Amino acid sequence: MLHNPATPKFPHMLHGGDYNPEQWLHDPKILEDDIRLMRKAHINCVSLGIFSWAALEPQQDHFTFAWLDGIIDDLYKNGIYTVLATPSGARPQWLAQQYPEVLRVSEDGHRNFFGQRHNHCYTSPAYRERVGIIDKKLAERYASHPAVILWHISNEFGGECHCELCQEAFRGYLREKYGTLEALNIAWWSHFWSHTYTDWSQVRSPSPRGEDSIHGLTLDWKRFVTKQTRDFMKLEIDAVKSVDPSIPVTANFMGLYAYGLDYYELAEPLDVISWDSYPQWHAPWGNQNVAMCESLSHDMMRSLKDRSFLLMENTPSTTNWHNVSKLKKPGMQTLAIANAVAHGADSGQYFQIRQSRGSCEKFHSAVISHTGTSDTRTFREVTRTGEMLESLDAAVYGTSTPAKAAIVFDPQVRWLLDVIRGPRNEGLDYFGTLQKCYRYFWRSGINVDVVGQTADLSGYELVIAPMLYMFRDGVQERLRQFVDAGGTLVTTAFTGVVNDTDLCLLGEATPEKLSDVMGFWVEEVDALFDGEHNTIVLRDREYSAVQLCEIVRPTTCRVLGTFGEDYYKGSPAVTLNAFGRGLAFHVAAGAEDDFYEDFFSELVPQLNLERAMETSVPEGMSLTWREDAEGRRIVFVQNFLDTPLSLALECSYEDLLRHEVCEGTLTVDGFSCRVLRR
Ligand code: GLA
Ligand code: ZN
Repeated sequence: MLHNPATPKFPHMLHGGDYNPEQWLHDPKILEDDIRLMRKAHINCVSLGIFSWAALEPQQDHFTFAWLDGIIDDLYKNGIYTVLATPSGARPQWLAQQYPEVLRVSEDGHRNFFGQRHNHCYTSPAYRERVGIIDKKLAERYASHPAVILWHISNEFGGECHCELCQEAFRGYLREKYGTLEALNIAWWSHFWSHTYTDWSQVRSPSPRGEDSIHGLTLDWKRFVTKQTRDFMKLEIDAVKSVDPSIPVTANFMGLYAYGLDYYELAEPLDVISWDSYPQWHAPWGNQNVAMCESLSHDMMRSLKDRSFLLMENTPSTTNWHNVSKLKKPGMQTLAIANAVAHGADSGQYFQIRQSRGSCEKFHSAVISHTGTSDTRTFREVTRTGEMLESLDAAVYGTSTPAKAAIVFDPQVRWLLDVIRGPRNEGLDYFGTLQKCYRYFWRSGINVDVVGQTADLSGYELVIAPMLYMFRDGVQERLRQFVDAGGTLVTTAFTGVVNDTDLCLLGEATPEKLSDVMGFWVEEVDALFDGEHNTIVLRDREYSAVQLCEIVRPTTCRVLGTFGEDYYKGSPAVTLNAFGRGLAFHVAAGAEDDFYEDFFSELVPQLNLERAMETSVPEGMSLTWREDAEGRRIVFVQNFLDTPLSLALECSYEDLLRHEVCEGTLTVDGFSCRVLRR
């Protein structure tokens, strides 16, 4: 099935990035050069206006759009389209001076001074009003412009405000959710330590200076922050859509690593998902690991809407806010964008087109550096990336990424695992567990979706739910039906421990704990020090068990593997339960990569999961695939090492970049990608 295009006005692979001409309005020569250089680099779109508020409304209700008119027109005449931003990511000085309530209040109760960005109160009526006004003005002026293809709502939503307006809104949210204080006291278990709420006005957001022992409060507060951010975003979407609903909207996300927002909730009002990706390529832990984590984020971004997404920002070379600003080695820049496309992106966009001259991002790389010349390695590579995207446009744009396996990732579980006390306050490694489960699929060319607890699981063959500590929104019923109907489920230690307000699930083997599906109940959980390990004995092999070991009491499950040490030596470490027409596996310990490699190598061939190619994939390489409307498979063969790697092709392919037929052995250069159509 061909998905609807992300940008119907210009239905092509986008190659462009954040462009900040408002920094250069005093120097028209620069702006002329920019257009010439963008054309040379095969750039077909820019993101404009992200931080232009002060230039668009220098004083309240005094609007100056003429400069932006000129820029959009000039770019358009040169074949460059505009992704137009609403400017709410950073506010002008006058606004904060006239309406101090727009400034964010920290969790310890201090109101910020003016400065930085992304730090406004999402509740403030004044901020909402001013944002609504400028957004509407922008839409009235530009929505019908042929160049404007997409709205970029604000910039990287994030953070939270603890002002009195937000506290009051939080109380309203809780009243609506719980109805009575007694229901709230039970849900939050606040009779503990005499923290019982006897009046709604006593409720405050969590704070290190105040209440941080009630984890149900922390969870609900973070849910409220997502809700409030979403309301704010919705206000912006409504403002631009009220003028012309046909232009799609996006908001640039931050992948899997974004903390504090539940993107599953935030994604819903958007038409297109986009995200900003800044991995630490060439870090000491190895590009394969970087690429794997990066791919996991791409997969989550694609799965949010089950359609192609946009890579809204990535760096042409260095990222100035990393601890160490490494250059991207030759090939890496094009490969990083190819990797995004391989996982479902329909663009390669950069931060930034022209490097700023001063202030805190002057050492962040750009397509056009301070030298102003096209004669740089980075510029040449950007140009090659543009050529690559042009070559892929006809065959790849809008194609889908079919996946029959899914990994469940829940940011709300992450919030809780970070604050609960015990069983390991040194870290429960939720991400690590996720990555260990993902690695095998990433390495062997099996596409994986990354989905939330509320996702429809019925289309999958395999669902992996690593460390799903909290069960919420009826996930038990969806997992039960999934297995009953023939699906294969894999869970890992510390799954199904609490309900949706962080209250422990009571009882031994109960349906609420999914014990009927899993065939056991958990009696105790042992925690291991860093560096300490037990072993998992599975057939004739031993693997190390780290961090957590569950002492499991089987009811109907078979025991596949056991612990090798300690007083619980011999107790189940890996179990399998047949339920309905399906199977449920459980790994009752923190296992390492080698365990999951062997475990999935044995399990996966018994399932109907397609691999990109039936061939053995060397270490350092990753395969993934998309599918076009005619059902033709497009395979991305990526080499993340700096030396060539070879692969045996099982049939002949058309190389979409080199325009040649490939058969037999395919050799892929270091830091490069081949795109093959079957
Ligand atoms: C973020 C922001 C950009 C820029 C880049 C720098 O993604 O959205 O404005 O600051 O980081 O890496
Ligand atoms: Zn506030």
